Amino acid sequence: MTTASSADHPTRRDFLFVATGAAAAVGGAAALWPFISQMNPDASTIAAGAPIEVDLSPVAEGQDIKVFWRGKPIYISHRTKKQIDEARAVNVASLPDPQTDEARVKSGHEQWLVVIGICTHLGCIPIAHEGNYDGFFCPCHGSQYDSSGRIRQGPAPANLAVPPYQFVSDTKIQIG
Ligand code: FES
Repeated sequence: MTTASSADHPTRRDFLFVATGAAAAVGGAAALWPFISQMNPDASTIAAGAPIEVDLSPVAEGQDIKVFWRGKPIYISHRTKKQIDEARAVNVASLPDPQTDEARVKSGHEQWLVVIGICTHLGCIPIAHEGNYDGFFCPCHGSQYDSSGRIRQGPAPANLAVPPYQFVSDTKIQIG
């Protein structure tokens, strides 16, 4: 294992560390819920698709976290200005699944990309911050997605899907 890492270039190891922390935070919140209010949805309701809230404040620029909603991995990327600029400089007409970056993020919150982390080819889980486009790389058959989660190379036919979500505050989103 290499020890090379830096704060301005997140590695896969950084991503996994943050993802684990997020999972622990969600688990902690779930454990507290029954004591706070019986009105909150129980675990089976959440698994069936109840909305979840995610606090984005611990996610540093350039990092990604993974949460689960309806049993699916959801990637949340805190994009750098470079990633946003790259995503917006693309000639949309040249894309296999043409879509502007603006259409895939929320206005006023352009730094946050929220996508379902399931490859649109055969359903593998892509790796964040890998590949040629500073986005996501699917190791199964080599599909490459850009920093907007749009398919750029490889067999996948469509962009990573954006789940329904909204900002409930500047640092918190509700998915579902
Ligand atoms: S499942 Fe991702 S490239 Fe085939």
